[in-house]
Formats: sequence, C-alpha cells, structure tokens
Amino acid sequence: MSDSVKNYFPPFSVSIDLESGVMRNPKNHVVRHASDMRGHYADAAALDKLIKAGDPVHYEVFEVPVPEQQGHLMYCISKLLPGRVGQEFFMTKGHYHSVANTAEIYLCLRGEGYMIMKTPEGKATAEKMYRGQMVYVPPFWAHRSVNTGASEPLVSFCVYPGEAGQNYGDIETEGFPLRVFERNGKIVLEGKQS
Ligand SMILES: [Fe+2]
Repeated sequence: MSDSVKNYFPPFSVSIDLESGVMRNPKNHVVRHASDMRGHYADAAALDKLIKAGDPVHYEVFEVPVPEQQGHLMYCISKLLPGRVGQEFFMTKGHYHSVANTAEIYLCLRGEGYMIMKTPEGKATAEKMYRGQMVYVPPFWAHRSVNTGASEPLVSFCVYPGEAGQNYGDIETEGFPLRVFERNGKIVLEGKQS
C-alpha cells in the first residue's frame, strides 16, 4: 500500500519559555481579567473592588492549535497569576470537556497551588501543584487550577485529546465544592472533599 495517498499533517515545533510561562509565537493567546471571573469567587464585592481598581489579569493561556480531531493532541501553557479576591486565591474558571470522556495531563513548571476537580454529581478532590508535579485529570472530571503562591505565577503545560473541547457545564451556576482561601496567613481548603 502506498503512503502517497495519505494526507499527512505536517510536524512542527513550538518554543516555550519555561521560567516566564510564555509560549513564543502562539497562535491563540487567551487573557482572562478579573472582570471575566464574575460569579466565580465567594466574595463578589471584593471582585468588584478589584475590577474597579484596574481589572488585573488573572490568567493567560497560550496555544498553537492542532485539528480538533481524534488522534491529535491539543496542548497549552497556562499561566495563572498570584493574587486574592478577598481571601480566596486567584483561580481559573475551570471546565469540563465537551467530549466528557477525555482526560488531561497538567505538568506544573513553576509556582505552587492546587488542581481542584469535581464530577457533575458533586464529588470533589484536590491535587497539589508545584514544579515537577504532574496531575492526571481523568475523563469526566471538571478541573480548575488555583495559585496559592505569594508572588510567583503558577505555570503548567497541559495536554489533552484534540477532540476534547471545553464545556462550562454547571460551573458558572454551582461553582466547585472546594475553594482555597488564605485564613490568618494559612492556606486552607474549604468545602466538601469526597
Ligand atoms: Fe481541560
């Protein structure tokens, strides 16, 4: 059988600054500000205050996309900045995958925090993130990262099936059962872990 009939996807490479958490020459660069995070934090008034005080960047995602098809692997660099909304640490919105039966790997490159995960039935858990720690997010689990560092960004490399997509599902209405706060100088996970 001749390979000449196949429509091969061309190999390519991407340059990543592991320290600053920046993908050089990304095709997609998503920047989420505090104002994009309405409804996600426990203290809505504190978020409003932050938006009025300059609407700082919460997180950035860099991608060079590949076809959203089975067989391909999508990947990204996620850079979540340090900070708090009231006492709650900065976090990403979090999502399920549109094709729910797809997993994801996060390899933490810099900083410290948590990956908070939950199922649609409300089962929730957290895995610690720090440089060199890899978190496996199994199929069906929604996932959100939280930066608990005082001054460093939380930088991760993620990879997931090309067809996975993103789905906010019940996150915008119900949030995650676990939240991460600073209480009296300590990092505290609050909520139901099951
Ligand atoms: Fe994901």
